Amino acid sequence: MSNKSIIILAAGAGTRMKSTTPKVLHKISGKPMLYYSIKEALRISDDVTVVLYHQAQRVQEEMEKYFTTINFVIQDHENYPGTGGAVMNITPKYEQTLVLNGDMPLIQAVELEKFDIDATIVMSVLQLEDANGYGRVVIENDSVQKIVEQKDASEDELKITTANAGIYQFDTKFLLESLPKLSNDNAQKEYYITDLIEMAILQKKVLKPIIVSEENFKGVNSKIELADAEVIHQNRIKKAFMAQGVIMRLPDTIYIEEGVQIEGESILENGVTLLGNSKIVNSHIKTNTVIEDSILVDSDAGPMARIRPGSELDSTHIGNFVETKKAKLNGVKAGHLAYLGDCEIDEGTNIGCGTITCNYDGINKYKTIIGKNVFVGSDTQFVAPITVEDDVLIGAGSTVTSDLKKGQLYTTRAKKRVVEGYFYKHFNQESQEK
Ligand code: UD1
Ligand code: MG
Repeated sequence: MSNKSIIILAAGAGTRMKSTTPKVLHKISGKPMLYYSIKEALRISDDVTVVLYHQAQRVQEEMEKYFTTINFVIQDHENYPGTGGAVMNITPKYEQTLVLNGDMPLIQAVELEKFDIDATIVMSVLQLEDANGYGRVVIENDSVQKIVEQKDASEDELKITTANAGIYQFDTKFLLESLPKLSNDNAQKEYYITDLIEMAILQKKVLKPIIVSEENFKGVNSKIELADAEVIHQNRIKKAFMAQGVIMRLPDTIYIEEGVQIEGESILENGVTLLGNSKIVNSHIKTNTVIEDSILVDSDAGPMARIRPGSELDSTHIGNFVETKKAKLNGVKAGHLAYLGDCEIDEGTNIGCGTITCNYDGINKYKTIIGKNVFVGSDTQFVAPITVEDDVLIGAGSTVTSDLKKGQLYTTRAKKRVVEGYFYKHFNQESQEK
């Protein structure tokens, strides 16, 4: 833990996102962008302040689901809009203050440690092919002169491809002394934090630029940039798992959310989606299967299976078009086309094609409990609540409406009726057959 304070700016409206959701709550790999800045900040500091304004309550409530030790401050946005206004009225605890943008979901603590330099300001610079959207860094005689915002830049300045990444470390004393001197004399009539750079230069303070990569410091201002950042983030997640021994077929087609755990020699085929806090241990997930907030151990699922929240599968085989929800399956085979919701099914049980646990009566949800070595014939419905003991045989096409005892046969098919030639009688036709 270094001795520095961190301020994360997250008060902006994010108009370029064209959304009613605050910018920093837009998600990357299943978590709001701001989550990532805070998580990385907490790795290196115990004094983290998040600045809010637009939909402040909503953003704060969302972040409090994940973090309990951060401070929230509301920006005086009416009087002091802009990134400079955002850092006013904060008293950092330490001598150095790192300022991060909440719209940078790719930052990592190891990169932030590079700012551990003794200077009045350490600023981060990107060397880009296209700096569109960023403030341009004007460098003359090898030293930084100022930062010009895109909206204030001249035609020549717009051609500059050296951009301000938007992360700065300030000597806290300099920061607090200089903020009252900021003005809003610019195209956006805002107080820019970037003007502090020019002030430091005029005062001949030590200013150290460090070159950083877009891979880690990309700012997200639009939905296009959101998608670009997510691709980078996804690659990080997938590479980390592959390095640990997970096999991925066509990884570009796989989506894995932050929070997913994968252990052992698991295989993910193309098109697999792993969501929430799912945990996959020594399992094989086949093409186009979706798993959400579920645990799979020594199991296989798919192709095209959907494992919904609260499912726990152990040594289980799930085939195509099977949907589970809150299903505890231990040593079960459900090879095709079934809905298994709110149920517990035990070892050696075979679930036939077309089986449905009817768990919902329109008002409440009920459980189906099935024991060991039960053979469930195709197209069976369990009208829950139902308990089926071990070693039961259920005939195809049965509707199970009462509990079944060990060893029983159960079948509810209607009595068979075959009437020769009835088709022709019904439609008043002559039979073609002689
Ligand atoms: C800012 C920089 C720009 C840099 C870019 C990097 C300024 C003036 N410009 O521009 O030089 O290239 O970041 O991504 O700083 N925010 C507030 N309160 C406000 C306005 C913004 O907290 O009143 C927050 C936003 O929520 C956001 C961050 O500050 O998290 C940056 O704001 P944004 O509007 O995205 O600034 P850029 O135009 O990207
Ligand atoms: Mg931005």
